[in-house]
Amino acid sequence: MRRRAVSESKLVKIDEVKIGKRQGRMKTGIGEFDRVLGGGVVAGSVVLVAGEPGIGKSTLLTQLVASMGGIYVTGEESLEQVKMRVERLGKAKKQKDFYLLTETSVESILERLKGPEGGKAKAAVVDSVQTLTTEDLTGTAGSVGQVRECAQRLLGLAKQAQLPLFLVGHVTKEGVVAGPKVLEHLVDTVLYLEGERFGALRLLRASKNRFGPTDEVGVFEMIDKGMVEVKNPSRLFLSERVKGVPGSAVVAVMEGTRAVLAEIQALVVPSSLAVPRRVASGVDYSRLQLVVAVLTRRGGIPLGNSDVYVNVAGGLKISEPAADLGMALAIASSVKNKPLAEKSVVFGEVGLLGEIRMVGQVKKRALEAKRLGFGYIISPEKFKRLRETIEKGLK
Ligand code: TYD
Ligand code: MG
Repeated sequence: MRRRAVSESKLVKIDEVKIGKRQGRMKTGIGEFDRVLGGGVVAGSVVLVAGEPGIGKSTLLTQLVASMGGIYVTGEESLEQVKMRVERLGKAKKQKDFYLLTETSVESILERLKGPEGGKAKAAVVDSVQTLTTEDLTGTAGSVGQVRECAQRLLGLAKQAQLPLFLVGHVTKEGVVAGPKVLEHLVDTVLYLEGERFGALRLLRASKNRFGPTDEVGVFEMIDKGMVEVKNPSRLFLSERVKGVPGSAVVAVMEGTRAVLAEIQALVVPSSLAVPRRVASGVDYSRLQLVVAVLTRRGGIPLGNSDVYVNVAGGLKISEPAADLGMALAIASSVKNKPLAEKSVVFGEVGLLGEIRMVGQVKKRALEAKRLGFGYIISPEKFKRLRETIEKGLK
């Protein structure tokens, strides 16, 4: 019978376990990143940062290493390319403990991470898991087997050396590429970086977090100098708003644990189509259909012969039913050609009977509205029926 190889693990008395220099939670120095992680990155934890190509993963993680120091392993770019990015980021140049490695062989990467610089590094980034290969498997880089095996080995080192490790993984629009989906159960934390490629807004969300909450959202803006933290998202979303025009409603929605104000715009025009158009951008299409149906039947706003366009300004995507009422009022406002009451903020779910339903976090939403100078709150606390809200909510 063949004997199983015996590893070198041994029993250790708890008193003898030494806690090294890296321990507990470390701040990355990027506030919005720390928020999503749950107050910083935990030593020895493995964080997968996933997102579509070109969304800004490399930029954000370069900034992370520039901020906290560490090793940036790249299998996708040359040293010069990374250096050029660092130069663009400006302040990153000051970081002395910023090491680069261009490598795709996981064996070599492990050697370097175990070496003298690797031993001292505050964190390591591997960009991306899809470029890695191990000699022990025959599959090509990016195949399920390679991705899983390479990640597993890096994970082993991270745990053993208590090194915070960030893995970059690309996903396509459908999220199907071998990578993130294969890795989700292996790693401690999965963060998704999202946004419209041609817009500046980027949201960092946790979809799994062994060491923190999963409902926090980090807000960034991609500018020519990299990813800039947005400490005050409401200001950003409302920055280009035109006041006092019909078809616009300011809504209060929850992004993670934060209340954020955003503008919903609506345009209603006579339709020449047998089946009128409903176009939703930034809001859920089925919520739009529901709101249109309820407006028609219960709100006194017939839309059967109209095209309805709804858009959320600033590239934010809202999926919360709490935005229903704002959507309804923006549409009604466009139809009646009357703006919403001055300084109003709207939230509330619209039911099929035309009733306004309660939503969570009423206090937080109202506080954010007050903070930004919106004194008139249109919510289920004050209004119970859609028809009545339209009468009183429009100027
Ligand atoms: P990148 O971080 O390379 O994306 P990913 O690693 O997710 O594929 O970012 C790609 C885009 O970001 C690229 O089109 C250029 C743009 N960009 C900026 O707008 N500002 C910057 O400071 C940098 C470095 C990149
Ligand atoms: Mg990249």
